[in-house]
Amino acid sequence: MCGIVGYIGKKQAAPIVLDGLSKLEYRGYDSAGIAVFDGKEIVTKKAAGRLAVLENLTHNGENMPGFSGIGHTRWATHGAPSDLNAHPHSNGAGTIVVVHNGIIENYMALKNKLVKKGYEFSSETDTEVLAHLLDYYYDGNPLQTITKVLHRVEGSYALGILFADHPDELYAARKNSPLIVGCSEDGCFIASDVPAILKYTRNVYYLDNQEIARLTADDVKFYTVDEEEIEKQLVTVDWDANAAEKAGYEFFMLKEIYEEPKTVTDTISPRIRNGEIVIEELGLTDEELKAINRIHIVACGSAYHVGVTAKYVIEGMLRIPVEVDLASEFRYRDPILSPEDLVIVVSQSGETADTLEAVRESKARGIKVLAIVNVVGSSIAREADSVFYTWAGPEISVATTKAYSAQLVAFYLLTMKLGRVRGVIDDRRFAKLLEDLQALPDQIELMLGQKEKIQHFANRYVAARSVFFIGRGIDYAIGLEGSLKLKEISYIHSEAYAAGELKHGTISLIEPGTLVVAVATQPELFAKTVSNIKEVKSRGAFVMAIAERGRKEIEKEADYVLYIPFTDPFFANSLAIIPLQLFAYYVSVGKGYDVDHPRNLAKSVTVE
Ligand code: F6R
Repeated sequence: MCGIVGYIGKKQAAPIVLDGLSKLEYRGYDSAGIAVFDGKEIVTKKAAGRLAVLENLTHNGENMPGFSGIGHTRWATHGAPSDLNAHPHSNGAGTIVVVHNGIIENYMALKNKLVKKGYEFSSETDTEVLAHLLDYYYDGNPLQTITKVLHRVEGSYALGILFADHPDELYAARKNSPLIVGCSEDGCFIASDVPAILKYTRNVYYLDNQEIARLTADDVKFYTVDEEEIEKQLVTVDWDANAAEKAGYEFFMLKEIYEEPKTVTDTISPRIRNGEIVIEELGLTDEELKAINRIHIVACGSAYHVGVTAKYVIEGMLRIPVEVDLASEFRYRDPILSPEDLVIVVSQSGETADTLEAVRESKARGIKVLAIVNVVGSSIAREADSVFYTWAGPEISVATTKAYSAQLVAFYLLTMKLGRVRGVIDDRRFAKLLEDLQALPDQIELMLGQKEKIQHFANRYVAARSVFFIGRGIDYAIGLEGSLKLKEISYIHSEAYAAGELKHGTISLIEPGTLVVAVATQPELFAKTVSNIKEVKSRGAFVMAIAERGRKEIEKEADYVLYIPFTDPFFANSLAIIPLQLFAYYVSVGKGYDVDHPRNLAKSVTVE
């Protein structure tokens, strides 16, 4: 969603804040704004559109002097993207200025009260309520005023606040919306996410719910909403600063696809020791692992598609029943959970609102929650009972690629571990699975080697109106993700269908020339999928197939075939997804779109 950056220190604030915002642009970007204390007053500049508009307006921040500032990139929720609705928002006098991520749920009631007291609003946002409410309670003591306001607002927030009469201080607070505080020799920072400040410091504090931070140029203090000072642990982030740079790639998405072999290695290697799988962070004893009766996988978007694959993998290998839920459905459908169940939530950002609520809902019912998460210290990571980190590093492109691949292998590791403990995978099978698992990074590299072929093919489909993905079993799950990748960044309508289901209605949409991507990596389902290819071919479809090496017979039916190397069929997703990610990428590039910033989307969805 939106991005926040703030700085107070020895250097000019505005260039640092804008540079930080540029690293967060992936979170939300229909408008941006910055406020800086220039020595006399707080000066605010805002602009609808991309961050570049604000950068031009301020000469990359250079024409905004001052040593403390807050900035924001906005993804509109309350009020259309516009200069007026862009953050920061201020009280009438411009002496209290706020940037905000999240949603103030009772803002209408608060606004009505403030209007009755004579306050005038200039935007349609919920955030402006905060600025006026701070003004209403302001008694010269920022901390006391902030706590009063926080006691009155409902909803979620990450806040950066400047008070003109306290120019040497910057305040921050959070509830259900991420915010970190960083410190370096040159000053202190706030940010919604680590990449924004990685260039300046690796030393960060993760603010917890309803905590407030008071930053000065060389110090930070933390408080509860009851104004009690608290100690917080400094965490050193070991992310590679280059990971948040494009490193010569035209778009982050391509860079991140190319990082997949490393991501998969980094997620697997630390968990394999002396030929066994060791997942210390599981936090479950062997007895508890043996007792698991049912697994519920809960996630959104691509992470949900990982869950769909995992269902096939876990049920197929272990015969443990698995339910996969969209987090937005799970939390409201009163799911049937019993004490021997395990809930596994999956999230790259660790901040997805619905997934976080699923964690809370499950824990409230006394069910253990394991989180597969990428962002260290994120809300989901902190609230789940145990965390399996995918070591994918920062993922900047809105469309997930490397985190998806890391989540897949996390499930392979978990399944193999469970199979070992429960005695359902014998030594020989385990050794072969381990060999295939460890071969995946090199095999992904081989898949990446087909880049030019895929680029060439994608160029032919830049003008496609509708694309279908079909497959059975795990191949269906692969299709779900291939289809989402294509539609989110190329804006081409696309659907994924279980191959056997197409003829129950949707086949009527197949016209001469319609592209059908058929995934046929599963040996036991191969013949069935080939029959489905015939069905669409006879309606005039053009078929691109993805099959296991050696399945030459598919060339008789499909028009274009890509092959994946031999692997255990349960792991095929990790290889077959690569050409589909590349296909979506090149169609988007071919259409001239900004691949990393697809319209209407945000990287981390912190609202319901
Ligand atoms: C698609 C995509 C989204 C996310 C979804 C969940 O490319 O990135 O569908 O997978 O919003 O996000 P996380 O994994 O952060 O919970």
